[in-house]
Amino acid sequence: MASEPTTVTITGAGGQIGYALLFRIAAGDMLGPDRPVRLRLLEIPQGMRAAEGAALELQDGAFPLLRDVDVTDDPLTAFDGTSIALLVGARPRGPGMERADLLAANAGIFGPQGAAIGAVAADDVRAVVVGNPANTNALIAAASADPSLPADRFSALTRLDHNRAVGQLAAALEVSPGDIADVIIWGNHSATQFPDVAHGILADGRSLLEALAERLGGSEAASAWLDDAFIPRVAKRGAEIIEVRGSSSVASAANAAIDHVRDEQLGTRRGWTSAAVVSRGEYGVPEGLVCSFPVISRGDGEGYRIVEGLDLDDRARRLLDASVAELAAERDAVRALGVL
Ligand code: NAD
Ligand code: LMR
Repeated sequence: MASEPTTVTITGAGGQIGYALLFRIAAGDMLGPDRPVRLRLLEIPQGMRAAEGAALELQDGAFPLLRDVDVTDDPLTAFDGTSIALLVGARPRGPGMERADLLAANAGIFGPQGAAIGAVAADDVRAVVVGNPANTNALIAAASADPSLPADRFSALTRLDHNRAVGQLAAALEVSPGDIADVIIWGNHSATQFPDVAHGILADGRSLLEALAERLGGSEAASAWLDDAFIPRVAKRGAEIIEVRGSSSVASAANAAIDHVRDEQLGTRRGWTSAAVVSRGEYGVPEGLVCSFPVISRGDGEGYRIVEGLDLDDRARRLLDASVAELAAERDAVRALGVL
C-alpha cells in the first residue's frame, strides 16, 4: 500500500452528491485499494454542519484507507496541496428549469475556486466540475486558474450521460453494459448533447449499429429508434429523474464522478469513455470551450486525451455543431455577467 495519502477535496460535501461520494471514495472505489486518501470537505457556512456530520460518519466507517478528514469553509484551506478536486458545490435545478438557468446563480462560485486551486493545489492537481452548468463552470474555473495552472487540468462531468447511454443500449439489446464499448457523448452536458453510437462495438465484435438493426428489424428501424427514442431519452434523462424523484440525480451522479476520476487517474480500460475537456480545436470545436469528446487516459498522470480522427457524417456534424453553439452562447453569457 502506498504510504503517502492522496489529498482529495470535495466541494459541496454537505450536499446530496457529496454524501453519496464520500463513503465510496473512503472505501477505495475511486483510487483503488492501495491508495490511502486524506479528505478535505469544503462547504459554505450554511452547509458546514451537514459536512461535519458526514465527517463523523466517515470516522464511524473505520475505513482502512482513510487517513484524515478536514471540514472547512475556506477554499484556500480546502485546496491546499490537493491532487484531486471534485467541484460539486452549486445549486441544483428544479422541475421546469434547464441547467443553463443556473448560470447566474452558480457562475460566481467557480472563478474563486479555480483561482484558489491555481494558487495552492499540488503540482499534479486535476479538477472535475460536477456543479451545473458543468462545462461552462469548468471553463470559468480554468480561466481563473490561468496562468498558474494549465487549463487542461480542469474537466467537466459528462460520464453520467455516457453511462446513461450505455444503460439504454444494454436494455435495448439485452446485453450487459460491460459488453458495450466506444459510445460517445459529444458537446454540452445539456439537452443539446449528442449521444453517438456510430463507432460503438459489442464484446462479440458486432458494431452497435449492426446489433440494433438485427434487434429492431432493419437499419431504418434502428435509425428511427436512435433519433426518436435513444437520443432524447439520454439527453433529457436529468429532467426525467427530477420529474420522477422530485430532485436531481444523486447516486448515479456520484457514481459517474467516481468513474471519471478513476479512469483519468488509473487509465481507461476497454476503448474510450466521454469527458468534457478543454478544446484545442479538435473536431472543429472552438479553442477554449469545455466540450465533451471521446477520451482515453493511460493512467500516466497526463489525464484525458481526446481520441482524434473519427469520421463524423453530416448528421453527426450538425448535432455536434448545435451543442457547440450552445457552449459558445453560455461562454458569451458569462462574459456578459462579467465572470470571465
Ligand atoms: P445539493 O444542494 O444537495 O448540494 C450542494 C451543496 O453545495 C450544498 O450543501 C451547498 O451548501 C454547497 N455549496 C453551495 N455553494 C458552495 C460553494 N461556493 N462552495 C462549497 N459548497 C457550496 O446539490 P447536489 O444534488 O449535491 O448537486 C450539486 C450540483 O451538481 C448541482 O449543481 C447539480 O445540478 C449538479 N449535478 C451535476 C451532474 C452532472 O452530471 N454534471 C449530475 C447531477 C447533479
Ligand atoms: C443530471 O444530468 O442528472 C444533472 O445534471 C442534474 C440535472 O439538473 O439534470
